[in-house]
Amino acid sequence: MFPNTRMRRCRSSKGLRRLARETVLERGDLILPVFAVSGEHREEPIPSMPGVSRFSVDLLRRRAAELKAGAVLVFGVPDPAAKDERGSAAFQEDGLVPKVVGALKKERPDLVVITDVCLCSYTAHGHCGVLTPEGEADNDRSLELLARVAECHAAAGADMVAPSAMMDGQVQAVRERLDTAGFPDTPIMSYAAKFASSFYGPFRDAAACAPGSGDRRSYQIEPANRREAVREALLDEEEGADWLMVKPALPYLDVLAELRRVSRLPLAAYQVSGEYAMLKQAAASGALDERNAVLETLTAIKRAGADAIITYYAEEVHEWIEQ
Ligand code: PBG
Repeated sequence: MFPNTRMRRCRSSKGLRRLARETVLERGDLILPVFAVSGEHREEPIPSMPGVSRFSVDLLRRRAAELKAGAVLVFGVPDPAAKDERGSAAFQEDGLVPKVVGALKKERPDLVVITDVCLCSYTAHGHCGVLTPEGEADNDRSLELLARVAECHAAAGADMVAPSAMMDGQVQAVRERLDTAGFPDTPIMSYAAKFASSFYGPFRDAAACAPGSGDRRSYQIEPANRREAVREALLDEEEGADWLMVKPALPYLDVLAELRRVSRLPLAAYQVSGEYAMLKQAAASGALDERNAVLETLTAIKRAGADAIITYYAEEVHEWIEQ
């Protein structure tokens, strides 16, 4: 008790504060999302995400040579004409994402290339699976297609696949497929606790994947539900997930902390497009110091339990931190 105990003693110099620091954000924690489009020499800036662009495969390959991040999460954004009811362009062996994976691994064999496994950018209706006649995402019919997507990515050399469609049984379907197709060593990062969030707004511009009608509430988790998110994550673990993810990150730190307590798997958190856009715009208006605010959010995400953080700020953060 005061005056014997004085919390400020250990805060009195930079050196003392550094020794007592509990959470240290490292460069090796960061995963950069990248968006790929077809064609050549194409760079398309995304207006709602200043500083983020979609790139064609040749430009992504060139960028890979200079990339500071040690890991990327690849999203394919096909031409509108390539979309159909089943998202077939997502499971072509020589499709966009397999090409990107090949190009990145050729340029930078050490780069950890993770791929998003979903159908929403590839379906004409924009949902994450095929539809029932009533227009709902058809869980069981979508599993086979998602498994094929994952197989194409693994065959192209992806270091890890990340199913994000929130179909029940998708991790099991992907694991079985990878095992029988000869990729038993390709790990799965499950978007286990993926909430039906408004913070995906800018991403839906970036990846052209907004649902044409309806929303994703029949498959993504209700933002109010923590217990349900924990059940989802534990089921994915039983189905064979190697990593679990919480998404979005900052509004769901309680979920991250709870998963850290109940699971021994490594945990990723996704600082999503809307979180990025909020920080960018607040910084651009002068309301926040960008560097300090971003590092504070990422440190908070790590403190809550994340081992790795997927963030559009990965390249900047590499410049901002020392190790
Ligand atoms: C698609 C997908 C989404 C994001 C990642 N994968 C959007 C969605 O579910 O609507 C969001 C990423 C972001 O907002 O940065 N399955």
